[in-house]
Amino acid sequence: MAQSPGPGADAGLPANPLSAANPAIRGALPLGGAALVGCGSAVPATSLSNADLSERVDTSDDWIRSRTGIGARRVAGPGETITSLAAQAAFAALDHAGWEPQQVDLILLATSSPDDLFGTAPRVQAAIGASRAVAFDLTAACSGFLFSLITAAQYLRNGSFQRVLVIGADQLSRWLDWDDRRTCVLFGDGAGAVAMQACPASEDGLLAFRMRSDGSRNACLTLAQTDAQRPLVGSTSAQVGGFAPIHMNGQEVYKFAVREVPAVLAELLQSTGVEAASLDWLLLHQANQRILDAVADRFAVPHERVLSNLAHYGNTSAATIPLMLDEAVRDGRIQPGHLIASSGFGAGLSWGGALLRWRGPGGIPDSAGA
Ligand code: ACO
Repeated sequence: MAQSPGPGADAGLPANPLSAANPAIRGALPLGGAALVGCGSAVPATSLSNADLSERVDTSDDWIRSRTGIGARRVAGPGETITSLAAQAAFAALDHAGWEPQQVDLILLATSSPDDLFGTAPRVQAAIGASRAVAFDLTAACSGFLFSLITAAQYLRNGSFQRVLVIGADQLSRWLDWDDRRTCVLFGDGAGAVAMQACPASEDGLLAFRMRSDGSRNACLTLAQTDAQRPLVGSTSAQVGGFAPIHMNGQEVYKFAVREVPAVLAELLQSTGVEAASLDWLLLHQANQRILDAVADRFAVPHERVLSNLAHYGNTSAATIPLMLDEAVRDGRIQPGHLIASSGFGAGLSWGGALLRWRGPGGIPDSAGA
């Protein structure tokens, strides 16, 4: 198992003597692994085609398909929310893994479009009856699911938890300017979930990872608080809560993605000694088919091993990776033992990568991680 260096390693900071990366500490800790043992997904019922959108904004099916690969996207209707979609995906993942809701220790919900800014994960916990689980949100835009999966793996590896549900769910249709053709054609709503379980270190499903942020480029892609003020008393005022629709410099984000995603994946391959030719699948954040193709070409990965469902769902932000994973597991493309190179990237700016081994349900006794 190749460990990723601690965050300090890249920045040239002194190593934390209490870090598990310290061999002296590491030997004393019952470090285990984290296995990917189940998945599920959910999308809203309503599909909006490119032709539908061209009735509203000055665009065309040809422009959208040729520039992005997107043919349609799902849009949440009345009664469909982050909570309902995430709960549906979570139920499917529980069923796939063969778990009861009461067995779940932690629910991590990656979302940038919560039902409740105080946190939507507790609503999901209640909806699925996982009353033993602690539940909280994690926000990192389109990198959110990968960052959550990596975070969950740490709790499983260090023995804190046995079973974790990692969910990526977004409803960006709430936050689009539907008259802005540069953004409204790109995004859709959906949710995906992965069940992760503690396992022996030798069976760890997270072979290596990298996580990166660059706030200096934040303005490239924002869903930012507006600065309207409400007068209170005298000269005192308070900000009025509310967010401006998604604003994106598409070309800058495109250039960022085709530069940073290959770089982070190359680091992962180099650190583990894995050859690109031995990857079973490239499972990248689904933002644009041209980005998927550029990354595949960089590593000479045949296009049939690059997973894509952009044509049906567009960019569902934190949901794209688990939504795609679930589809490919259920139709039999991803098999137990397959090696997957994954990368998430997006607003923040944030990006990261992980080398994953899909395990699938069954065969791990409780306390196997200890
Ligand atoms: N239909 C028709 N024409 C359009 C549309 C549209 N939907 N959108 C833009 N155009 C026009 C533009 O106005 C422009 O016209 P002009 O030259 O007359 O001004 C022309 O098409 C070209 O526009 P570009 O922005 O240069 O088009 P580009 O080829 O760069 O494609 C796109 C735009 C698809 C947004 C691309 O830049 C892209 O995919 N960027 C990456 C987005 C991304 O990956 N986001 C991921 C993160 S998401 C997250 O974290 C939440």
